[in-house]
Amino acid sequence: MYICLEGIDGTGKSTQIELLSQWLIDSGFKVKKVVEPTGSEIGLLIRKILTSPDATSSNTQKILALLFAADRLTLMEKISKYEKENKIVISDRSFYSSLAYQNSEDWILEINKFVKTPDLAILLDLDVNLAISRCLKTDEFEKKSFLINVREKYIELAKNNKNNFKIVNANNGENKVNSDIKKVVASLLGICVDGID
Ligand code: TYD
Repeated sequence: MYICLEGIDGTGKSTQIELLSQWLIDSGFKVKKVVEPTGSEIGLLIRKILTSPDATSSNTQKILALLFAADRLTLMEKISKYEKENKIVISDRSFYSSLAYQNSEDWILEINKFVKTPDLAILLDLDVNLAISRCLKTDEFEKKSFLINVREKYIELAKNNKNNFKIVNANNGENKVNSDIKKVVASLLGICVDGID
């Protein structure tokens, strides 16, 4: 099982991945957490480019899309191995991030054609102003309008892939968000969640 959490920066993905992972372990599952960009050399290069001043420019986004697809491929072999070991893989981001951030469906799907589609994607959805105030500490217009587009694209992707892409409201407090995520995952795994209908 390959589950990913998606969302713009500041939606609380890391916290929720920890809570989800702990709950699954407590419920008797074996869990492996992974993250994109990875720690590979390509991943390190991506992180460097992400901090450059023109990170959101259209050319840099194309370069990033290509690098992200390559970096993601370094992860796929590991994910297959973990799945064979009956581990649930929880990924911080997936190729849906490329579709949302690099925002150009056709060729991004093409360069990601060797990549697995997650069995379940969960979008932590949050208003961009709130997300920015939570983490980015910047009102920079360019960044804000970029993220508004990313959020819209995410919502469109979730709506177009209703069977395996669920939206969770990330503006509900840590515990409620956690229980909403658990409900979605429980229904995928066919298990019950204590105290939740
Ligand atoms: P990171 O610091 O890990 O942010 P976060 O904790 O929000 O995931 O950096 C990842 C950044 O890379 C984030 O801004 C989203 C972006 N990204 C893309 O633009 N395309 C992609 O395909 C992926 C996986 C991430």
